Amino acid sequence: MSVLELRTASKLIPIRIECGGMEWLAREIESCFAPQRPRFLLVCDERVALLYGKSLHTYLESCGLSVEFMSLPPGESEKNFRTLKLILDKLAHKNFSRKDVLLALGGGVITDINGFAASIYARGIRWIALPTTVLGMVDASIGGKTAINHETAKNLIGAFHQPECVLADILTLKTLVPRETRSGAAEIVKGALLEGGAIWMELQDEGPDALTWSEAQLFAMIEKGARAKIEIVSRDEFESGERMLLNLGHTFGHALENVAGYGTLTHGEAVFYGMQAAVWLSEKMGLMKKEIAVALLLWMQTLSLPRANVTAESLLQALPSDKKADQGKLRWILLSKPGVPEIRDDVPLELVQECAAWLCDRVRGGEEVSVREHSAKRILILHGPNLNLLGTREPEIYGSQTLSDIESLCETHAQKCGAECLFRSSNHEGELIEYIQWARHWADGIIVNPGAYTHTSVALRDALSAIKLPTIELHLSDPSQREEYRHHSFIRDVCLRTVSGHGADGYAIALDFLLSHLSGTLGQSAG
Ligand SMILES: NC(=O)c1ccc[n+]([C@@H]2O[C@H](COP(=O)([O-])OP(=O)(O)OC[C@H]3O[C@@H](n4cnc5c(N)ncnc54)[C@H](O)[C@@H]3O)[C@@H](O)[C@H]2O)c1
Ligand SMILES: [Zn+2]
Repeated sequence: MSVLELRTASKLIPIRIECGGMEWLAREIESCFAPQRPRFLLVCDERVALLYGKSLHTYLESCGLSVEFMSLPPGESEKNFRTLKLILDKLAHKNFSRKDVLLALGGGVITDINGFAASIYARGIRWIALPTTVLGMVDASIGGKTAINHETAKNLIGAFHQPECVLADILTLKTLVPRETRSGAAEIVKGALLEGGAIWMELQDEGPDALTWSEAQLFAMIEKGARAKIEIVSRDEFESGERMLLNLGHTFGHALENVAGYGTLTHGEAVFYGMQAAVWLSEKMGLMKKEIAVALLLWMQTLSLPRANVTAESLLQALPSDKKADQGKLRWILLSKPGVPEIRDDVPLELVQECAAWLCDRVRGGEEVSVREHSAKRILILHGPNLNLLGTREPEIYGSQTLSDIESLCETHAQKCGAECLFRSSNHEGELIEYIQWARHWADGIIVNPGAYTHTSVALRDALSAIKLPTIELHLSDPSQREEYRHHSFIRDVCLRTVSGHGADGYAIALDFLLSHLSGTLGQSAG
């Protein structure tokens, strides 16, 4: 899709953004280091491990690479010394040397913390950023700023350490929860406000809410945003001048994120609020005309942001010490209009206090976080044990289509119905349960073919019962016409309906039923 390059004084960093999949990532990683064959440590958070990490690990090993794997708890609150030590311990206990490579697969938290681990382990080892969030692709993985948080301030402990390359698989964005997609767009909006040209014009029409953009628009925005960041970093790698502009919205944003408690507001949401504060200050400082400020604030407020209970006093106390200019004054990025930013250290304290109070009113009056706000219905289609053998496994019972044939059929049918499907399969009961638990954050409904676990797994039933998503039980054959031990289903009564005996056609039947149920054109009755 896009091959970009960041050229710094000492290094050329390829940045590839592609609809590639995990197999593509594995091949790219292999080809980056083809003659050298270093060892790799692949690190991701637990959510990304489930969705992508384990399969990337398998693909990398199938390329003949030597790869250690570790997953970390997800979230901003984990971007700390304890997690950093876990990574360093793993590198040390597995005898990684300076010629080896760290692979960071995930959002900005994972690339920040692993980039930092790579910068200090053995006085610096190589690393690759594999961003899987909008924010990661457009911003965090580009430019070599790495860090962990300190209790007093965000990103306080860190280093500049450029990755060898950035490989962004756009397909991973499909599984982001709407809140993360929307919040990642904060850095796109920031870039557009700084640029003030074509990107800003386009964004002005589309609005700041990435959930209202089409998939193609989102991808195009990511590419443009990444390009804009590359340009700034290539002119000022170590943030001695122009790169400071990228802190627009981050002075109050970082304070807000910290004071609200990491995880209450995402980084992007806090930056959205911080940009409103920057516009407010710009106007009060006489830099921005009132009508521009009013229009910008109105435009920004078309995006609903979650609320947090913060006070002006705590916000002021948390203003980041790393944003202080030489004389101990805070440094602000202000705008006279989109495209004309300015770095200022002369904002009077009284004005900062007033702005903190104004911002707190907004943040306290935000909205309840709504978890599902996407328009297309999202269906997780889950396959249990031995279904990976479809096509070769007893075709007289299960048919001759492979699992990927079935997935293509479902995909085509789902597209016709305006739905989005995600397919996952596993031979392991625990992994199926993890997918079901994850689905509560992402899916509107589930179609599950649990294979033989249907007849044995109380745990699977408990998972479905706990998450309460509308679910269809599906079987290619009709278990009631087969051996007696297949007659009992532990999950039947926690599902809306069982579809069995229709072979691969059963998926379209199940999808139609589930989508009708979700659109309210069917009653709740199980059948
Ligand atoms: N280094 C820089 O220049 C820079 C720039 C901007 C932001 N940042 C940092 O980035 C961090 C924020 O990054 P973020 O918003 O990506 O947060 P994140 O890394 O916490 O990811 C957000 C959530 O999305 C989940 N996730 C990630 N990829 C997924 C996928 N493909 N499908 C489903 N779920 C997925 C994660 O498990 C996590 O729960 C902050 O710590 C911020 O300071 C750094
Ligand atoms: Zn940021």
